Amino acid sequence: MESRRIQFKLFRYRPGEEGPPRFQVFDLDVGPRDTVLDALEMLRTRNDPSLLYRHSCHHSSCGTCACRVNGTERLACVTVVWDLETEEVVLEPLAGFPRLGDLVVDMRPFYEQIPPGMTYLRESEWNREASTAHGLTRYERFESCIECGSCESACPVPRTPEEFIGPAGLAATSREIEKDSSQMTGLLDVAGSENGVGRCRRALLCSRVCPTEVYPAGHIDKLRKRLKNEG
Ligand code: SF4
Ligand code: FES
Repeated sequence: MESRRIQFKLFRYRPGEEGPPRFQVFDLDVGPRDTVLDALEMLRTRNDPSLLYRHSCHHSSCGTCACRVNGTERLACVTVVWDLETEEVVLEPLAGFPRLGDLVVDMRPFYEQIPPGMTYLRESEWNREASTAHGLTRYERFESCIECGSCESACPVPRTPEEFIGPAGLAATSREIEKDSSQMTGLLDVAGSENGVGRCRRALLCSRVCPTEVYPAGHIDKLRKRLKNEG
């Protein structure tokens, strides 16, 4: 089968390591449909069984494989290496999360910033395949976030939960208000708090990297408008 020799530059890290980032370079023959996750699996099997990365579903549903590919947040399982159109692929962990090893980060801060009380139902998944009605061209999934952390990694605002709720948390807050308006007042208090929408710098990177079209920046804007109308 046709293949291309690609150089993978992998971020390597073990807890406790200090000093400048350490990268390890591997050359790998990659086929036209091989994804970054396929490449990682080949590298781990053939070159270095100690390589650490996360994955589960292999089809952009679980969000666990998110990492930075050539500097941009992507899901490794659906990123086709040839489509990157580079001879060198740099793989790094998501930014802004505590590192656990190589491409693996600690996702706990992500969940800690989701305001409490979210029902977090994925209401629209049941009708994803259903035919549309009432003049709609498609059903938008109401709650599509796969909790991959890409938006958080791309966001330039410093982000402990005390500093900024962050794009995923604010998007969840906005969606929750849309789902259950009886919660509006309490959730708008969260969105309008010191670590809420006022911290957003409108960089829009969160919406650009989100693999499931949540458009966190759009939700942050909706929250701003609601706060203005309520105020
Ligand atoms: S909003 Fe999008 S980018 Fe952010 S965690 Fe959810 S799926 Fe990932
Ligand atoms: S492995 Fe589940 S989203 Fe990539």
